[in-house]
Amino acid sequence: MSPSRICQTLHDEHQSTVLFVERLEAMLGRYRAVCPDRDDAAAASLLRDLPHALGRELRAHFDFEEVQLFPRLAQEGDPALGALLTEEHAAMQPLLARLLSVGAVAQAQGFDEASWSQFRAAAGELCGQLSAHVLKEEMALLPVIEESLDAESDAGLYDIYAGNCGEISR
Ligand SMILES: [Fe+2]
Ligand SMILES: [Fe+2]
Repeated sequence: MSPSRICQTLHDEHQSTVLFVERLEAMLGRYRAVCPDRDDAAAASLLRDLPHALGRELRAHFDFEEVQLFPRLAQEGDPALGALLTEEHAAMQPLLARLLSVGAVAQAQGFDEASWSQFRAAAGELCGQLSAHVLKEEMALLPVIEESLDAESDAGLYDIYAGNCGEISR
């Protein structure tokens, strides 16, 4: 358990994201040439969890990192890493938007060949980008932030995050 509450919270969210990416990859692996079966319970639950896992909460996580953590990282001497991670967030946005919109239609109506092909393409690209991004933050962002925080700043950041993350949506 990390002594920093904010770093522990972000780490837990990274773990949840990695688990969701694994579910997505498993679904892509099961349906290569054909659309997912409407009776497939795992596919149905993935589509149900998609808006929660990759929608509003992930946006709140990205926003918090960009507004609160990357400037702190720059103060600690690594402005280039914050800039790179911000670019990666931006690069994932169109993929996330496509996945969420195609996924919402598929949850209501099922996939057809065209929507499955769009979903597959976006999901395949996103899984790779998101996994690499999370790994980078786990190795190079959270340890530096944790090192830089005293108990008071940690509590302050946690309060900001807990207060904001239910309200941010784009
Ligand atoms: Fe990030
Ligand atoms: Fe993150």
